[in-house]
Amino acid sequence: MERLERAAARLAELGRPEVAVILGSGLSQVLPLEGERALSFSEIPGFPVPTVAGHAGQVAVGEASGCQVLVQRGRIHYYEGYDLAEVVFPVRAYAMIGIKTLVVTNASGGISEGLHPGDLVLICDHINMLGGNPLRGPNLTRLGPRFPDMTAAYDPGLRAKAKEVARGLGMVLKEGVYLATLGPSYETPAEIRAFRALGADMVGMSTVPEVIAARHAGLRVLGISCVTNYAAGIATRPLSHEEVVKTTQSRASDLGRLLSALIPQL
Ligand code: HPA
Repeated sequence: MERLERAAARLAELGRPEVAVILGSGLSQVLPLEGERALSFSEIPGFPVPTVAGHAGQVAVGEASGCQVLVQRGRIHYYEGYDLAEVVFPVRAYAMIGIKTLVVTNASGGISEGLHPGDLVLICDHINMLGGNPLRGPNLTRLGPRFPDMTAAYDPGLRAKAKEVARGLGMVLKEGVYLATLGPSYETPAEIRAFRALGADMVGMSTVPEVIAARHAGLRVLGISCVTNYAAGIATRPLSHEEVVKTTQSRASDLGRLLSALIPQL
């Protein structure tokens, strides 16, 4: 808690917005802010520092579509070697400065038949296959309860708004279940068949810890995934991080338009 308090005090110097947006792989530039004040992760006490190329690690507060927002560019992944408690440290610090709504974005592999590279998909639920939970250990009762409910982790009201806004922009926003796997190796075709049987539509290596911590702390969550590739065994081509980043960047402007239009509605 003390570490969180120190981080929150530093973050609060940037402002006290109520909406935070986490921008994942290749997406860090999609939401430009006016009058932004930014800190790199390494300048915020207690923040873990990302180690992956394409995940800069910066927190900025500024105005988007006339609203104050906090934007996190880059994120920490479990596969980098940090504990899940470290992975969710930023989200908990945001809860401490009064963030009420968290928008999470990520890149994912498409598992279900209706999904194709380039699709933007509203996350409607998740499956945690990370083998751990960020809430493990003594409960931080100041943030939330020991056994938080995950029934409507991805807020139905926010999802309805996102769909309405997307429709207004003439954009197709599909919906799907996101499964988080540890990584950093991509999945085998057999794993993808198993995940499909479990009910997953997309697969990725992030987001689920942050969403669990956000729900624990009572934040409302909206999740948007950019499908960057067919999951292993669906396409014949091998998977590569370069392909993931390239596809994400090709969808960045649409995602930016969607987020900009959505923010005043959150
Ligand atoms: N698997 C896991 N994570 C990913 C993928 C994938 O196919 N694509 C983007 N992130």
